[in-house]
Amino acid sequence: MRKEDYININKLGWNRLIESKAKYSNISLPDYGPFLKRGEEQLQLLGNIKNKKILELGCGSGKSLQYLNKKGATDLWGLDISDLEIENVKKIIPSIKEQLITSPMEEEVNIPNNYFDIAISIYSIGYTSDIDSTFKNVYKYLKQDGVFIISWTHPFFNCLTSENEKVIMKKSYYNEKETIITKGNGAVELVQTNLMISSIISFALKNGFTVEDIIEEECESIEDKNSYQSNFFTKDKIKLCPTTIIYKFKKKGK
Ligand SMILES: C[S@@+](CC[C@H](N)C(=O)[O-])C[C@H]1O[C@@H](n2cnc3c(N)ncnc32)[C@H](O)[C@@H]1O
Repeated sequence: MRKEDYININKLGWNRLIESKAKYSNISLPDYGPFLKRGEEQLQLLGNIKNKKILELGCGSGKSLQYLNKKGATDLWGLDISDLEIENVKKIIPSIKEQLITSPMEEEVNIPNNYFDIAISIYSIGYTSDIDSTFKNVYKYLKQDGVFIISWTHPFFNCLTSENEKVIMKKSYYNEKETIITKGNGAVELVQTNLMISSIISFALKNGFTVEDIIEEECESIEDKNSYQSNFFTKDKIKLCPTTIIYKFKKKGK
């Protein structure tokens, strides 16, 4: 698929999903993923964020930015492909409206370079059409030793499906091709890419990052906080495999 088509499908799709007000599984800090036993309060991946400069890629609802704001981060920036989401975030955190940008994360935007202490992406990274340029951009935006924290569906969880209380592997772990998925009860099409763990790490290393941590956090079978019944995050699957993988990278010299 051409990069422009990938971007257009996701821009249109996310706007339509937001407009329709359909329920879908959504994640924001302090959670890193659905059903995880521990979130930021326990894992402390961000450390003390008082007065820190933080950028969120795919900031969506703005709930993670609100959480960071409450925790004392003073300089917050958010970027999202959906102009509707960005307009909503401007309403809920008006103090940062100049720092909210509508753009695909894979395109370099006019935000300060060598500036941020932390960049985060919570359940958004699989929607980039170009992971290589996404890492390149984040490298530019971060200060030396700045950290980049990503959470996304665990790529092995993504291969599993539940059928009559049995869990089976429905797709190859090696398959890294972009996939059309639907959200909002099948109403909206989106494109995502689920890379192997080794591929994500290779792109990070190639772009000047080191690996600080990788977390495959256990899940518990509690109610989804979005009270959304998902055919993807099923109880049978979450017993066997983490829903989510969390990466913490650090910007080092190339
Ligand atoms: C599953 S949502 C997660 C959002 C966020 N964690 C929240 O609390 O709402 C994914 C978000 O990524 C955004 N997105 C999709 N493709 C993108 C891209 N290429 N660049 C930036 N944002 C993108 C969508 O508009 C959506 O808001």
